[in-house]
Parts: sequence; structure tokens; C-alpha cells
Amino acid sequence: KIIPVIMAGGKGTRLWPLSRSSAPKQFIQVVDEKTLFQATLERVADKELYEAPVVITNQDFRFTVAEQARELGIDLSAIILEPVARNTAAAIAAAAFHIRQIFGENVTLQILASDHEIDSGTDWQEAIATAHRTASTGMIVTFGIAPTEPATGYGYIEQGAPLPTGAHKVKRFVEKPELAAAEQMLAAGGFFWNSGIFMCRADLLLSEVENFAPAVHEAAAAAVRKASVDLDFVRLDEVSFAASPDISIDYAVMEKTDNAAVVASSFAWSDLGSWDAVWKLGNKDENGNVVIGHATVMNTEHSLVLSRASHVAVHGLKNVAVIASEDAIYVGRMDDAQDVGKLVKHLAANE
Ligand code: GDD
Ligand code: MG
Repeated sequence: KIIPVIMAGGKGTRLWPLSRSSAPKQFIQVVDEKTLFQATLERVADKELYEAPVVITNQDFRFTVAEQARELGIDLSAIILEPVARNTAAAIAAAAFHIRQIFGENVTLQILASDHEIDSGTDWQEAIATAHRTASTGMIVTFGIAPTEPATGYGYIEQGAPLPTGAHKVKRFVEKPELAAAEQMLAAGGFFWNSGIFMCRADLLLSEVENFAPAVHEAAAAAVRKASVDLDFVRLDEVSFAASPDISIDYAVMEKTDNAAVVASSFAWSDLGSWDAVWKLGNKDENGNVVIGHATVMNTEHSLVLSRASHVAVHGLKNVAVIASEDAIYVGRMDDAQDVGKLVKHLAANE
């Protein structure tokens, strides 16, 4: 069986003011009743295929994770707690070490981001089956999404030679390219976006982390060795874990490994990372507006209006995002949606 490893420690600042440091993107309801984290849990709930998931997150979110899993009646194998944030390479390595302790050497992991919107119908199931076959041949498998624009917030995967399993080798992996490079790759063709989901054997993953990021490997190993366990919570040792470099798995391993494969995937996928992405995915009225919650629009076009608090009425505007949470309101141009993270930094600096 596959062991799902759900990464749920990110900050998601571009969805301010709905996403907050106390309750980031993955733990809030953006468009659905369920949170993105809960949708991720349901994606790997098939007991024939999967063990109970392991969640790795910051210690501040331990009760949120436990409560949101409980709401769905889903059991977790463990909730691994990071005392400090050291990015995804250290988080994944720590999870792999812990899993090796409880499930043994020979296990396959499916590592999932917890902040995506995905249609897990037949296309998803086929992609998972192909990835599973490919991972068992000793590959780190990625899921490639057909790119639609030269986005700079994603990893780009160049497809190489076909493998007998139905996947392809990865020729090159480029994490978050500059705009010019992204435009070149899009024009050249043969590239995918990295979906942020990986499948691989735990032992292979750990040996690649050891090869390319030995300091991460060492810190994660020690943090697990000295971890304290209470109930489902595995608290990583703070001093050991804090010694890890702050680097994502994409830079640390995926750009460097020769053992990566890509499954060309056609399931609907959205990173849902910013307000323009929420707008793109939402149900539009005849003027191209997405209106969610307590909100009304008039003479307005191509806008996103979302309120979780008092009633918001937008009149005579175009290309705007208006977001109202309980205690903060954001109004901005849709084109500036990628910069909301900068605004949040600015806010924090002025607080
Ligand atoms: N446990 C833990 N600890 N989880 C983390 C941490 C951490 O320190 N940092 C981030 N995460 C979680 C996030 O909550 C998210 O679910 C996932 O790991 C990915 O992190 P992001 O910060 O959202 O990464 P990204 O979106 O910039 O880039 C990644 O995803 C893209 C697709 O959305 C990369 O894998 C890209 O290559 C990829 O295209
Ligand atoms: Mg992301």
C-alpha cells in the first residue's frame, strides 16, 4: 500500500485576508464547504490503495489538523510537528525517517501538497496507477500538468524518453524560473508544470536527500531520532531540526536527481494560490464575475467578490478582487493578485 504524506505547514499569504498566519490557506474554506486540507485527505482515503495518512505540519497547527481529520472521520497514522519551519525538503525527509521507523524500509510514499484544488476522477486514478508502477522501479515520480501561461510560481519539467511503465524520464527540472525562461519553455514545448505531488520509495528519497542535501538529511534524521511522541503527535527535536537548511524539495532534490520521472496528467488541477486563480476556477455570472458569500455586484465585470462577513456590494468596477473576512478587507486590481504576499509583508512591517 501507499503511504500518503501530506505537507501542511505552508503560509499561503497571497490569499490574505482569508488566509492568515493563524489559519493559512490549506485550513480554510475558500470555495467549498471543505477546506483544501480536508479535500486532500479525501483524495487519499481509499483503504485498498492507501494506509492512513501521515501529516507533517507546524506545531501551531496541531489541533487544526487533528480536528479537521476528525470532522471527516479519517484516521491519521501520525501528525509530525515541526518546531520551526525549514521548508519542504526537511519536512519530507523527517516524514520519511519516521515512516521508515513504523512501516519498515520497503514503502512507497505519495507526497501531497495540502493546498490544491484537484478533480480526483478517473484521470487522477489513472495517473496514480501509472505513478505507482513507475515508483516501484526506483524513480521519484512527478505529475506533469499542461502549462497554459508562463507562470513563474511553479516548477517546470522537461519530458525525456518514454519508460515502459507509461511515464517518461525527466530531462530537466527547473524550479520557479524567471519570466523570460518560462516564456522560452512554453514556446519550445515539451514542458509540464510540476503539480507539487510526488510518488517514490522512502529509501530512494532519503538517499537522494543524502546525496544532494546532506545537511537536511542529517538534521531530519536527528530530529526524528530524538523526537518525543504523545498520542498521535510526533514532536521533532527542536535543536536538531532547526539546524536544517531552509530549502524546498524542488531545489534540494528535484533539480538535481537523475532518477525522476513524470506522468503526463490530465486531471483538473489548480494551485489556488492567489485571488486570480480563485476567480479562474469559480462559477462566473454573465459578466464574468465570481461572487461568493455575502456579496452583490452591479455594472461590474471580470471581478471576484467574496465575503465571509458583512454584506459587500460592488458597483461599477472592472478587474477587481474584493475580499472581506471577519476582521479585514482587501480591495485590489485582479492583475496585482500575485503581489498580495508583498502587501502582507508591508502590513506586518507597519503593525
Ligand atoms: N510541513 C511543511 N513544512 N509543509 C510546508 C512547508 C514547511 O515548512 N512549507 C510549505 N509546505 C507545504 C504547503 O502547505 C504546501 O501544501 C506544500 O508544502 C507546497 O509548498 P508551497 O510553499 O505552496 O510551494 P509552492 O507552491 O511555492 O511550489 C511547489 O508547488 C508548486 C505547485 O503548486 C513546488 O513543488 C513547485 O515546483 C510546484 O509547481
Ligand atoms: Mg503552493
